[in-house]
Amino acid sequence: MSTHITTQPIGIFDSGLGGLTVLAALRARLPDEDFIYFADTHFLPYGNRSESFIQARSQAISDMLATHGHAKLIVVACNTATAAAAEVIRANTHLPVVALEPAVKPATLLTRSGVIGVLATTRTLASQRFQRLVATHANGTQVIPQACPGLVEAIETHGPKSAPANALLDEYVPPLVQAGADVVVLGCTHYPWAREGIAARLPAGTRIVDTGEAVARQVERRLQGESHLGGHGQLRLATSGNPREVQKTITHLWGTAPHVEFWQV
Ligand code: DGL
Repeated sequence: MSTHITTQPIGIFDSGLGGLTVLAALRARLPDEDFIYFADTHFLPYGNRSESFIQARSQAISDMLATHGHAKLIVVACNTATAAAAEVIRANTHLPVVALEPAVKPATLLTRSGVIGVLATTRTLASQRFQRLVATHANGTQVIPQACPGLVEAIETHGPKSAPANALLDEYVPPLVQAGADVVVLGCTHYPWAREGIAARLPAGTRIVDTGEAVARQVERRLQGESHLGGHGQLRLATSGNPREVQKTITHLWGTAPHVEFWQV
């Protein structure tokens, strides 16, 4: 039984292609693992949807990854889905679930100015989970939340270096600089795609933190603990949207054209 589980893939999902930034960290750390990545492109963005909608989608996708995908572990590679649905997913699956949240805690350890900025979706910043995270870990550090409506869509539709993405960065990054933030948390997995543009709008020396590597370490620990590490380094990509469109977007981001499956979820 345990040999069988070992070679099953790790299931990972996001509202779209943001979670590919987490997948990259996972594949770098665990190159022998197999992965199934699901992009819920048909319902992108999650950031301004209701909590109950995100819970229903997250649950349906996790079920699909477990049954159709034979996943051995689920990675919620989306801050918005974690904030809205991590508890619901955990309560409804027998699989281990690794979720992520904005890297507020590491940021408070890095800041020297005592001010950190958090770029995330409206839904993530409004969640109780985020309020709790700040209350537990801010420890006197001033946390400046900056919602970035439209940025996820701009990155997916036009690209992270496009004029629409740049116009939004011009709006969302300067308030963090004005507030004196010397650490900026990328609290949405889409934003690492725009890291260059974000860095260009921050003073030299400002630290930018995301959660990809921390998630990869956590997945490794969970699978190691259960002796379930193993695979053949393969990747399957699936979407609820138009696979050709998704393939085109990934090709722009990666520079190679992968096969993308359509999944009715
Ligand atoms: N990548 C998702 C996150 O980390 C984006 C959510 C959205 O679709 O708005 O929050």
